[in-house]
Amino acid sequence: MNVRDEQLLRELNLYPLWVRRGVPVQEEVVPASVGMEGSPQVKTAAPVEMVMPVAELPEIAAIPEVASLDWTALKEKVRDCTACKLREGCTQTVFGVGDEQADWLFVGEGPGAEEDAQGEPFVGQAGKLLDNMLFSIGLKRGDNVYIANIVKCRPSNNRVPEADEIATCMPYLRQQIALIKPKLIIALGKTAATALLGRDAPLGSLRGTTYDYHGTPLIITYHPAYLLRSPGEKAKAWQDLKSAVALMQ
Ligand code: URA
Repeated sequence: MNVRDEQLLRELNLYPLWVRRGVPVQEEVVPASVGMEGSPQVKTAAPVEMVMPVAELPEIAAIPEVASLDWTALKEKVRDCTACKLREGCTQTVFGVGDEQADWLFVGEGPGAEEDAQGEPFVGQAGKLLDNMLFSIGLKRGDNVYIANIVKCRPSNNRVPEADEIATCMPYLRQQIALIKPKLIIALGKTAATALLGRDAPLGSLRGTTYDYHGTPLIITYHPAYLLRSPGEKAKAWQDLKSAVALMQ
């Protein structure tokens, strides 16, 4: 194992791997092995077969014509948006970043302080962990990957966005999804999961299922910021990523 792989596994809290003598190593706890150019090889989990439709989304506040906008017009619309109170408290809108024809779409909650300053999602500490999570399954920001948030403006003091703010902003994400046409959506954390599924439930109970988001498979995993606070949960996120890879194969 090279130093970079070791660092990555440490970051994911999966290294060193302690094995009690006489107890066979289970497939699931072997997260990766060296073998691929530049990134660890992923041992995939069995494909997830169950697909549940998402519940009907609650009525979303109308932002006229969003559904007909192309990338340029959508970016302008988001940049100029003052449809909810979040815009008053943020420096700039944070549209999203990456490959506009990506197969993989990762959706977070909303910009934090650093994202608000830089205008790009996931550029702070949580973003570094997200980049490592991407790397662990052979992905890279901007390369077949798009990263967006449920709300495009930073909620002050990093509070959770409110239901009306989410409802107002959702048409933008819906249109981003329509334009990207990803093969898989990964919701990062409870806010993204709740907004995309249209229902509230503990995040742990939402994991492990593949949902049908208006025709696109959707899976749920932990938010990187949560994983930074609760590193013991990183192994579960790793399982979710392996399921995602299996699904994509
Ligand atoms: N957390 C998020 O949900 N999104 C970001 O862009 C940054 C932190």
